[in-house]
Amino acid sequence: MKLRKLATLALGAVLVIGLTACADTTRDPVSSGGEEAGGLIGISMPTKSLERWNNDGANLEARLKEFGYETTLQYADDKVDMQISQLQNMINQNVKVLVIAAINGEALAPVLKTAADAGIKIVAYDRLINGTENVDYYATFDNYLVGKYQGEFIEEALDLKNAAGPFNIEPFAGSPDDNNAKFFFSGAWDVLSPYVESGKLVSQSGKAPATNDDWASIGIQGWKTDSAQSEMQNRINSFYTGSTKVDVVLSPNDSLALGIAQALDTAGYNPDVDWPVLTGQDADIANVKNILAGKQSMSVWKDTRTLGDQVAKMVDQMLKGETVDVNDTTTYHNGVKQVPSYLLPPEVVVKDTVEEILVGKGYYTKDQIGL
Ligand code: GAL
Repeated sequence: MKLRKLATLALGAVLVIGLTACADTTRDPVSSGGEEAGGLIGISMPTKSLERWNNDGANLEARLKEFGYETTLQYADDKVDMQISQLQNMINQNVKVLVIAAINGEALAPVLKTAADAGIKIVAYDRLINGTENVDYYATFDNYLVGKYQGEFIEEALDLKNAAGPFNIEPFAGSPDDNNAKFFFSGAWDVLSPYVESGKLVSQSGKAPATNDDWASIGIQGWKTDSAQSEMQNRINSFYTGSTKVDVVLSPNDSLALGIAQALDTAGYNPDVDWPVLTGQDADIANVKNILAGKQSMSVWKDTRTLGDQVAKMVDQMLKGETVDVNDTTTYHNGVKQVPSYLLPPEVVVKDTVEEILVGKGYYTKDQIGL
């Protein structure tokens, strides 16, 4: 009897140890120092209707797979509720990290609390996520510098430092729910507003914001091309009739610049004759073609391949419990915390450098951009 009892006790002990060991393997490896490699990474992108995000998603997925991770990539059609439910699904799929390019940087706090409670790490991708402590890292391009390049390009193209002026300017800003948009505008307006104050730059529509903080007053929701086109058409029809011409348009990105160019075309402006200086960002294919045709002056190119590379590295460093590379711990406070960030350099592209930069660096082929 005694022997049988001992055997039963020993068997029970083995079972308890076995179960505990099993339970251990379900623990989040990140909290245990991240030795465990591999696992599922969630990638949440805002929309396919803006060209750059298609490049971002494909590249990031490929880089993460090279590190040995599985991925689930979702696009939310610029619908905030859809992005939130896609994130919830990824949480339910037990992703280890969420990489998120937020549609609305103010709307994700609740779902990110759920993610954090499940031990999931969160990386804000290109656009900062605000109002929550549950953002571990941010990776983007230097958004203020993007705007500064646009402002400096205008300053140089019109020789604002020396020319008498006045020049007619029509400024635009990005989507009011996109944290990046205020940085783009501030970077440009810090260069241009002194010229507005001195009267060398005049907005006939009266839509020149009094301060950087008023940027959203000229924002285009969802970065929509057709909204930018109708806004520019309205301004031309109301304020630029007869001999009064638009001399310069500050466009924060290419999707807006495309709509603005269509409005200028319709209004009879001609490249190399009276086409205004027109800025952009992202070096989208349609806009690169417009630059080559003289219908856009420049774009600020952000090599999305480098962003994907950097984020994949950060994800791998996090999950292996290594120090995560950051190069900026002061610029991006999200209303709750200072978010450790990695900023990549943007680059200006103009007609004479399109081939050398975009084809030369393997971003586009000549065929893609009609060279
Ligand atoms: C911004 C992004 C830009 C711009 C815009 C439209 O957040 O940084 O590249 O194109 O969204 O997607």
